[in-house]
Amino acid sequence: MQLNDQEQDVLDGSEGSARAHAMSLLVKYGIALGAEKLVDTNSVCGGVVGSLPGRRDVLPPEKRDNMDAVYSLLSLDSDVTMHIPPVKTNTYKLIEAMDPDHYDVQGVAESTQRLVKDTAKFCSRIGVQTCNTCAPYLVGNVPIFGEHCAWMESSAVIYINSVIGARSNVEGAHSAAAASLVGKIPYWGYHVPENRLGSHLIEVDCSIETNLDWGLMGYWVGEMVKENVPVLSGIKGIPNTNDLKHFGAAAGSSGGVEMYHLAGITPEAPTLKAAFGGHKPKETIQFGLAERRKAYDYFSTGKDLNIDFIVLGCPHSSLEQIRQVAALLEDKKLSPNTALWMFTPNALKTVATKMGYTKIFEQAGAYIMSDSCAALSKVAPAGAKVAATNSCKQAHYLPATLGLETWLGTTEQCVQAAITGRWEEGLK
Ligand code: F3S
Repeated sequence: MQLNDQEQDVLDGSEGSARAHAMSLLVKYGIALGAEKLVDTNSVCGGVVGSLPGRRDVLPPEKRDNMDAVYSLLSLDSDVTMHIPPVKTNTYKLIEAMDPDHYDVQGVAESTQRLVKDTAKFCSRIGVQTCNTCAPYLVGNVPIFGEHCAWMESSAVIYINSVIGARSNVEGAHSAAAASLVGKIPYWGYHVPENRLGSHLIEVDCSIETNLDWGLMGYWVGEMVKENVPVLSGIKGIPNTNDLKHFGAAAGSSGGVEMYHLAGITPEAPTLKAAFGGHKPKETIQFGLAERRKAYDYFSTGKDLNIDFIVLGCPHSSLEQIRQVAALLEDKKLSPNTALWMFTPNALKTVATKMGYTKIFEQAGAYIMSDSCAALSKVAPAGAKVAATNSCKQAHYLPATLGLETWLGTTEQCVQAAITGRWEEGLK
């Protein structure tokens, strides 16, 4: 790999041991992937691990409260404790283990609360923005077209690659942490223009209307194309951020898709021909009502119609999605046996509270939760066995991570089930 003088100096230790180690990690990572150079980045999203119970147990007991030691090992893969300097890039923290305003509702032990608090303090010290969300593009981290980024979180990477035209691979905890310290990332994968061209053509011949429709189509497309770049044609109208959030999250969960094009809609696909760079698609696949049904049936793991837990906000919800649910909950009460948690970034929770939405949720017996999520934070109401969600990604993970039987439906179906306590079956 070719390094410029500045990169070589950092590698040689001119900016201290932590940045030298970070540069060396990125060089090894780049060489392993065949990258010939590094590129500058000023947009990183990563996880500052160490707040989930058990994660620090790999450190000797005397080091578990030392965040430099925790970060050195868990985020930078170094047994040697380094003093961690401030980050050099605009760095956002992804999802946190718990919602600090709802420790009681989420049943968080005091020992875990302490882990969350000292992780937040450490983030402030090194300048990592504690937006604690899987949807940083909803709260101010919006890269520009063509910008090189180093983001973790598949649903966020597919969004910025496809909808914005920024450039990122799905990074791991170590590469994202290293990138934040030196402002570099290896030039490979979706940083390279030719790798961003479409591979498979998906001809859509049914109308795609709700967030659930977009999620089902995304899940099915991911199954079909795996880690390739699908190009969808035949989409009627212009989807919104919420639709594409659900589409990308689902395609990333079922197949590992990190980039897609919507012909005539997304920025690198002004035409079908441009999306494929003038090449022929490897395969042409149809998506219609039969495929939508197949994707839905895949998720029918629910058997019991009595619902304990409704999960909304995967990926984290926008204000508009909160507003929609608040309108459905106004002057209603949830069934005494059913909980409804809607997840959102903490910044949007603040606005939701000012707008009066939080009060409407609480009067109905529901919660707007921030920072965390049911499936990845592994939090659910005590004793919950049967869940329902409007998100294919959440439905993909809930049975495995929390052992919940899961139903999938529209937002309206989910809110209705929270009120009646019963699931009304069927694909709407
Ligand atoms: Fe976000 Fe959790 Fe879904 S991290 S994308 S809400 S599984």
